[in-house]
Amino acid sequence: MSRRSWGIDEKVRRYLLDHSLREPPVAAELRAATAKLPHAGMQISPEQGQLMALLVQAIGARRAIEIGTFTGYSALWVALALPADGRLLCCDVSAEWTAVGKPYWQKAGVAGKIDLRIAPAIETLDRLLAAGQAGAYDFAFIDADKTGYDGYYERCLRLLRPGGLIGIDNVLWGGDVAEPKKRSADTLALRALNKKLHHDERVALSMLPVGDGLTLALKR
Ligand SMILES: C[S@@+](CC[C@H](N)C(=O)[O-])C[C@H]1O[C@@H](n2cnc3c(N)ncnc32)[C@H](O)[C@@H]1O
Repeated sequence: MSRRSWGIDEKVRRYLLDHSLREPPVAAELRAATAKLPHAGMQISPEQGQLMALLVQAIGARRAIEIGTFTGYSALWVALALPADGRLLCCDVSAEWTAVGKPYWQKAGVAGKIDLRIAPAIETLDRLLAAGQAGAYDFAFIDADKTGYDGYYERCLRLLRPGGLIGIDNVLWGGDVAEPKKRSADTLALRALNKKLHHDERVALSMLPVGDGLTLALKR
């Protein structure tokens, strides 16, 4: 089951999906295949995928980064939204989970756009920066280990051009960020990042109750 948006009941969500969702059949197939896996709940919802695809097109993105790919569903939406010569660099530590998505990337005709790096994302991002890639990217989606988010955000900010967009997933963390008694390492990391971003003048900001909470940060 993919994560649903806050404050919207099932009947209204059904209406929303019936009147706006344009999920490509191959993405629906990947979502169905992922639903059989134990950690399927980590996958973004189809409406969030469609929103991210729209954002990628709205900013004219050609080069994108994803941090946390899992079975490749969000990557599929982003890759489909990129132009034919666009490129998506995917970071994940699991060769097993990402392998699930590869046949669907092939079937969708986007496998050639995706460069999957199996390594801790922080290492991949630092390698890109060391290779002089600062300012070379247009879009980034952060959806991996929550305690790593701040480090990913800082690196993505350097890797993006001015006008580039960062999407940060799970910023509401099931509501735990708003419950002071909840103090897991993940909750504390997300709460601290949300607090920092609120006053981060380097970006224009919006926190949306989409999925498990999606922050959009547009680099100034
Ligand atoms: C929430 S899932 C990503 C879901 C995916 N964006 C989607 O919508 O289908 C998080 C992923 O982050 C990966 N991950 C966890 N720690 C990581 C790290 N240090 N570096 C890179 N990837 C990591 C996990 O293997 C997992 O596939």
